[in-house]
Amino acid sequence: MKAEIEIGKDVHDTPVLVDVEELLATRLLVQGNSGSGKSHLLRRLLEQSAQMVQQVVIDPEGDFTSLADHFDHVVIEGASYSPREIEALAGRIRQHRASVVLALEELEVEQQIRCAAQFLTALFDAPREHWFPALVVVDEAQMFAPSAAGEMAEDTRRMTLSAMTNLMCRGRKRGLAGIVATQRLAKLAKNVAAEASNFLMGRTFLDIDMQRAADLLGMDRKQAERIRDLQRGHFLGLGPAVSRRPVAVHIGSVKSGGKNSATALTPLPKTDAEAMGALLHDSLKEEAAEPVRTPPPSPPPAPAVEELAQSMADSAEPAQPEGDSPAIPLPQGDIDGVLREMAAEDGASFTPASTLFRTFATRCRERAIPSAHVDMPAFRRLFAFASAGVGRLDPEQRERVEHMAENVAEDVLAPYLAIVVAAAEGRASPDEDTLARVYGTASPGRIRRLLEHLEKTGLIVVHEDFGGQRTITVPGIEEVVA
Ligand SMILES: Nc1ncnc2c1ncn2[C@@H]1O[C@H](COP(=O)(O)OP(=O)(O)OP(=O)(O)O)[C@@H](O)[C@H]1O
Ligand SMILES: [Mg+2]
Repeated sequence: MKAEIEIGKDVHDTPVLVDVEELLATRLLVQGNSGSGKSHLLRRLLEQSAQMVQQVVIDPEGDFTSLADHFDHVVIEGASYSPREIEALAGRIRQHRASVVLALEELEVEQQIRCAAQFLTALFDAPREHWFPALVVVDEAQMFAPSAAGEMAEDTRRMTLSAMTNLMCRGRKRGLAGIVATQRLAKLAKNVAAEASNFLMGRTFLDIDMQRAADLLGMDRKQAERIRDLQRGHFLGLGPAVSRRPVAVHIGSVKSGGKNSATALTPLPKTDAEAMGALLHDSLKEEAAEPVRTPPPSPPPAPAVEELAQSMADSAEPAQPEGDSPAIPLPQGDIDGVLREMAAEDGASFTPASTLFRTFATRCRERAIPSAHVDMPAFRRLFAFASAGVGRLDPEQRERVEHMAENVAEDVLAPYLAIVVAAAEGRASPDEDTLARVYGTASPGRIRRLLEHLEKTGLIVVHEDFGGQRTITVPGIEEVVA
């Protein structure tokens, strides 16, 4: 028996079917302008196949969380978890074959991208015994696999492109079938789009997108003009899981509601100006006096090298007390010293950063060391530098290392720096115990994953021989050693 679902009807009202097994092997690309009905289409596909196959939805807009009201999907709010928790959740999702919606709308764009990339990478990295088939739906895929550099940090871009490329190019063997939807085909990385063999093309205005759609569908320009005239909810489908010839399909209805309901005109309220004025001003002062709802914290941005250099320089020369008032105590030591001392203490890397930061502030205060310029994000980076022993290098080397670490994410900075420092000092790469200590983990599996992650993001190159001997090289280290 074929595992088929009906996604809609063609012009003769004949059901248009999608073969889910074939879809798992051949992936799907959906394109259409805003409002053309992509998310509705994805929802129809997910609802119809919910009982057949595990589903994982990457949902930047929180559009798909309502699936949980009708099916067994678990909603995972990306903003509520640390990167490592997201990875652990992804591993369990594969193990237990859970259908989930990763809702990202509470995060800022760059954090959405990092969260999704970490999640997808961990799905991909699941051990072989958990390679069960699953549909992995990525809406707004141009965000996660952009064709141009854009404004995100370089390491974020590399991380997300590698996650999406792995999903679309190498996912099949591991059971993962990518289904990606985008408003603008021209904005989606070519290698990600090219890996789908099934297409559903909705209304498309821009020539450049139409041209790319036509190329993918194997249509000439004139035929492709059809795409421009498509109505909302109508798509042109082609591919081994849909149809061998282009077929026009009107997508069927859905059970669960999307958040973005159609913008239809609704009658205006019958309130006169006076009453409306009163409504708008009712308890306005009280509301304005309430504290602002703060968005969930996002990982700190990397401080600029100059900033780090400045705070290191500041700490190198103890500030002189103003005037000669005897009431002001003389500083005892400097910031570097406090950081070194803390980093050397047992279990420091296992202590939450907020606790460490409080200890740091207290010690600086006790010793009259000015530290107000070191905020939490700067502290976390400085602490990573101290834990890795960057201070042992000479100033010129230190500057180069700071430069190399500029765009490295804070959560992997300390182990990365430990590897860099060892290489700069001409020592063998740190062993697992050392890495585990600076990374704040006791799990060898995590260290392996950390190294894989660092390698995937291009920060290190790992060579493991058949005897299990591991050597790590760091691209760009020649600059430091020279
Ligand atoms: N086949 C359809 N049947 C009924 N309503 C539809 C259909 N397709 C889309 N709609 C409605 O049209 C509106 C826009 O659709 P949808 O949100 O899916 O667009 P989209 O292409 O995802 O847009 P965006 O790119 O802005 O996210 C929604 O309210 C949706 O319910
Ligand atoms: Mg949408």
